[in-house]
Amino acid sequence: MTSNAVLIKGGHVVDPATGIDGRADIFIKDGRIQTIANDIKANNNTIVIDAAHKHVIPGLVDCHVHLREPGLEYKETIETGSRAAAKGGYTTLICEPNTIPPIDSLEMVEAFMELVRQKSLVNIYTKACITKGLLGEELTDIDKLATDKRVRALSDDGNPVFYETLIKRACELASRHKLIISPHCEDSQISLDKAKGNSNVAHFPGKPFCHETDFIIREIACTEEARGWLHVSHVSLKNSLEVIQQAKERRVAKITCEVTPHHLLLDEHFKNPNGTVPKTNPPLRSREDREALQESLSNGMVDVIATDHAPHTHDDIKKGASGFVGLETALGVILTKLVHPGMLSLKEVVRKMSTNPAQIFNVAGGSLAVGMPADIAIIDLDKEWTVDVDKFESKARNCPFNGWKLIGQVVATLVGGRVVVDNCQMVC
Ligand code: DOR
Repeated sequence: MTSNAVLIKGGHVVDPATGIDGRADIFIKDGRIQTIANDIKANNNTIVIDAAHKHVIPGLVDCHVHLREPGLEYKETIETGSRAAAKGGYTTLICEPNTIPPIDSLEMVEAFMELVRQKSLVNIYTKACITKGLLGEELTDIDKLATDKRVRALSDDGNPVFYETLIKRACELASRHKLIISPHCEDSQISLDKAKGNSNVAHFPGKPFCHETDFIIREIACTEEARGWLHVSHVSLKNSLEVIQQAKERRVAKITCEVTPHHLLLDEHFKNPNGTVPKTNPPLRSREDREALQESLSNGMVDVIATDHAPHTHDDIKKGASGFVGLETALGVILTKLVHPGMLSLKEVVRKMSTNPAQIFNVAGGSLAVGMPADIAIIDLDKEWTVDVDKFESKARNCPFNGWKLIGQVVATLVGGRVVVDNCQMVC
C-alpha cells in the first residue's frame, strides 16, 4: 500500500517524547509526520487507517538484534529479520556485529549497510566490534569506525573483552568520539580459555561461571575514568542491577542498561515443552533475579527492553547454540505479563521500547513529533492471539513463548510513512 499521504484516524496516541497521551489523528505526508490534531479531514488520495479503539505509538526500536547476514543466512537474513521486526511493531534495529565475517572495519560496515539498503524493510544501524575478529586480542580501528554515523555503539557480542588494558583503551577512544561502548558482560569460551591460562584474573575472585557483575563493575570503572557512556547489555542479575544503580547515582559517567523480555518473564525453572532447559546467554536466572529486573524496570532504573533476537536452527540448538528469537513476541509478552496485570503502564513500555533506545543510540524514530519520519506502530491492546512459531516471519523457531496465549497485538506498522503491516499481516 503506497501513497504519499496517510491519515491515521481516531486512535489513542501515546508518545512519551512529545507528552501526547490522548485521542488524536496523525497526518503523514512524504514519509513524515505533518500534523497531529483532532478531526483531520482526508482528501481523495489519502490512505486512511482507522485506528479507533487502538493505540498509536512510535515504532519500536530494538538496540540488540542478530540478523545473521552476512555469513549465517541459513539462520536469518536481513530480509526475514526485518520482516519479523515490522510484524512485531519495530521500525528501527541496531544489529550486533557477530556476523561472519564480523563487522570490525569500515569496509565491513559498508558491506553490511549495502545489504541493508537492498533488503531491509525497516531502519537498520549497526554496532561494530571492539576487538578485531571478536577475538579479544587487538582493538579495532575505533577512530575510523567512529567516522561512520551508521555505527551506533561498540560491542564484542557474545564475548567479554577479557584484558583490562584493552577495554580501558577502548573506553577512552569511544569516549573521545562520543560513541557508546556496550561490552558483553558474560562468560564465553574465549574468556574462560583466557582465564585458564592467565594468572592476572584477580578481579574475578570465586564465582567461575558467574562473571556478569564482575565485568560490569570493571566496565563501569573504565567508563568513569574515560568519562564515557556505557550501555550494559542484557542485565540478568540482581547484583548487577545494584552496581548499575550505584554508578547511575554517582553520575561520573553516563550509564544506561537494557533487559530482555525472557529475563524479565522466565527463570531457571522454565523448561521447554519437551522438558529440556532452554539455553541462552546470559542464562535464565533465579526467581529473585527475575523479580529484581521487573522492579528495576518499573522504578525507572532499567532504561531499555531489548530482545537480543538470536535466531538459530533446531539443529544448531541441538549442537549447543544459545539464544531466543524475540522480535515478533516482545511487545505481546510485555503487554500480557506486565501491562495488563498493572505492573507497567503502556506509556512506560513505549519509553523503554522506543523513546529511550532511540535517544540513547541517537537513531531514527522514538518520537511522533511533527517533522519526524512516520515510523509508527498501531496496537490493539485487547486482541487475543496465540504465539505460533510456524507463522513467524523470522526463519527461526527458537522462541520460548511458543504456544503462549497473549493479549495485545501489533495491528499495523508504518516505516517512513509506508504501511508494511496492516491488519496484523505483512503487506509487502
Ligand atoms: O544467547 C545468546 N545468543 N546470547 C548472546 O549474547 C549472543 C547470541 C547469539 O549470537 O546467538
